[in-house]
Amino acid sequence: DNRTYLLSGNAAFAAEALIREMRANGFDGVSITSAYRSYERQKELYDTYFANEKAAHPDFTDEQIKELVLTYSAYPGTSEHQTGLACDMHNLSSAKQKFGNTFEGKWLAENAWKFGFILRYAEDKMDITGGIIYEPWHFRYVGRSHAKYMYDNNLCLEEYIEYLNNK
Ligand code: DAL
Ligand code: ZN
Repeated sequence: DNRTYLLSGNAAFAAEALIREMRANGFDGVSITSAYRSYERQKELYDTYFANEKAAHPDFTDEQIKELVLTYSAYPGTSEHQTGLACDMHNLSSAKQKFGNTFEGKWLAENAWKFGFILRYAEDKMDITGGIIYEPWHFRYVGRSHAKYMYDNNLCLEEYIEYLNNK
């Protein structure tokens, strides 16, 4: 679509280059569907998910609902979308895990590092990334050299930070 999305400086240039590269490769269906979010916007999303889950699971306690929502939405104040460094990209009507099986999703997972982005919530890292499920559409800008190291060594951000701290 033609909505405007905000990202912080370097991340914005990198995302533009990445999207341009995808279009140059002939797959132009992928676009950014979410980028910078204010605290208020994240809260709005979280509250909407909470209400929807509550309606779907009337027998759950609020604590159980919260636990469920936190597997796919960060709590307001803790989303990396609020940093302006993360963006969601896909070519589906809404973000779905099956994007990871598409040609475009695979291309992004394999090539986003060249533009300084990492696939932030990998399928095999859920235990380490705070319990967030696989999000093949969510990419976080860390800069190219960091992204390359993380990609080459299959490290998620938490593992890479630990590696840096112990270096
Ligand atoms: N969906 C991701 C985890 C977020 O809300 O930041
Ligand atoms: Zn996201």
